[in-house]
Amino acid sequence: MNPAAVVTGLGTTAPETVVTNEMVARGLDTSDEWIRTRTGIRERRVVTSGTATSDLAVDAGRNALKSAGLDEVGALVLATTTPDHPCPATAPTVAYGLGLGEIPAFDVSAVCSGFLYGLASGAGLIAAGVADTVLVVAAEAFTTIIDPTDRNTAPIFGDGAGAVVLRAGKTSEAGALLGLDLHSNGSMAELIMTPAGGSRQRSSGRVAEPHEHFMGMQGRTVFVNAVMKMEQSSRTALAATGWETGDVDWLIGHQANARILSAVAERLEIPAERAYINLDRYGNTAGASIPLALGGAADEGLLTAGHRVLLTAFGGGATWGAVTLRWPEIVPVV
Ligand code: COA
Repeated sequence: MNPAAVVTGLGTTAPETVVTNEMVARGLDTSDEWIRTRTGIRERRVVTSGTATSDLAVDAGRNALKSAGLDEVGALVLATTTPDHPCPATAPTVAYGLGLGEIPAFDVSAVCSGFLYGLASGAGLIAAGVADTVLVVAAEAFTTIIDPTDRNTAPIFGDGAGAVVLRAGKTSEAGALLGLDLHSNGSMAELIMTPAGGSRQRSSGRVAEPHEHFMGMQGRTVFVNAVMKMEQSSRTALAATGWETGDVDWLIGHQANARILSAVAERLEIPAERAYINLDRYGNTAGASIPLALGGAADEGLLTAGHRVLLTAFGGGATWGAVTLRWPEIVPVV
């Protein structure tokens, strides 16, 4: 039987600069009150000039390796929507920055579902015998693709990174990834899209307008689909694990909007207090939000060894999915 992928370390990081709702609302037709009540967000962390995704990824990766007590791994997967450059991938830069040698390293692009796709990719590398240990990092300098004058997106997003170390093990061990359920639907690609900078725009011969380099979002439609798909996928992952929704100790959902997270919890009949939320402090950090939430819940002493955890996300693509695991005995470095 192929080895299972077992979480054996967790690290996170966030930029020091805090931007409050009042600061976002300056010069924009919105308010602290609207942002708080419609999203749950109070403040977010943002990168300052000169900090790129790989810088955050290296910090989070170093913390995860420390948490795992390792100084080398067999492969690195980086989930990001905001690579340092369109070409090449950012993962090799991160592996180099961590001094990991000439290991396989590649990017995964699944926007807010990126961490779940990264976990599945890491588990695949382990099952295929490519590596016995994999560093899965999710890092986003997301505010670099946000138009500060667009009230549909500027209040929502923030920057940060989180990482886990996966090792080959058995499904019976705490930390093993159990139910893995992933999906996509490209008919929803335009719901979350950066129009310029790719081959579609470049091959047209048309020079992009500056605002086309920013990400646009159809928030309401994303909201409705996010609730529906996260519920569906969670049920599939739980069924594959043999758990009922009532067995879940922690629902750690993608931190997009507090109302999305409560709607998912309500539909799954998971009590609201078991749905962890830290988007009030970080905003929506896209792919990085789930590991940042895991780090927060563990660091606050809420998530402890043996807890049954359900992870779920929906994001651009559209992509979505869910993963179950029993939380291992690890000390996160946050
Ligand atoms: N400030 C003030 N008013 C705003 C606003 C803002 N920043 N953004 C929208 N509005 C207004 C709208 O114009 C609309 O006004 P109207 O009723 O007069 O037409 C009203 O608020 C409601 O707009 P709507 O878009 O329906 O709001 P919403 O409740 O869906 O909240 C989002 C908007 C973006 C917060 C919400 O849809 C969301 O969180 N979507 C998911 C976003 C996400 O994180 N996606 C990433 C991957 S999952």
